[in-house]
Amino acid sequence: MFITFEGIEGSGKTTQIERVSACFDENGYDTVVTREPGDTLIGKKIRAILLDPDNRGMSDLCELFLYGADRAQHLFEVVVPSLNAGKTVLCDRFTDATTVYQGAARGIARELIDTIHSVVVKDLRPDLTILFDLDPAIGLERAFSALEDGERSVDEARFEQEALGFHQQVRQGYLALAGAEKERFLVVDASGTPEQVFGEIVSGINNRLGIDLRGKGTSAS
Ligand code: TMP
Repeated sequence: MFITFEGIEGSGKTTQIERVSACFDENGYDTVVTREPGDTLIGKKIRAILLDPDNRGMSDLCELFLYGADRAQHLFEVVVPSLNAGKTVLCDRFTDATTVYQGAARGIARELIDTIHSVVVKDLRPDLTILFDLDPAIGLERAFSALEDGERSVDEARFEQEALGFHQQVRQGYLALAGAEKERFLVVDASGTPEQVFGEIVSGINNRLGIDLRGKGTSAS
């Protein structure tokens, strides 16, 4: 099973992935949690370049290809071998992030993005994509407090420094994708408490994938 998690900065997806992973583990699944960019050794170096606020002069195309390079290595090293070994892969961001951040928000043509995906990802598609939907004003506030509290490094703040309008385009881009692919996307309201969001995710996973996750914090526990 391949499940991806998407959403604007500060939407809480990274925290929820850990909980969802623990829940899969409790239910006997062999689970791998991974992320883009930066889950491989090479990817970590690419991530540092992509998120460094000093790199504000990066061209949109350079950004697009670096995300593609990170993904190619990630698929090669982590995602494809794990899926082939029968594991459940929970991935923090995937191709939809490129379609939305580099496409909808930066303005790169969808055809180019789709062409790159067809080369890098071929026909691999997530079985389910969980979209954490949130007002960017709230998300950015949370993201900035994570930076202030040191939970996230200031060396990774290039996207947090984009204007609110950029993040609004990201949100709208995600919602448009979810509207176009209703069977793949599960949209959760990320403004709820962590418990509410987690409950929504677990029941969504059970309904959509026809499985029966039970465990701590789920309504089925
Ligand atoms: P995160 O790991 O904290 O979510 O940060 C990754 C950042 O990279 C986030 O701002 C979204 C951005 N991003 C893209 O712009 N395009 C992509 O394809 C991916 C995977 C992430």
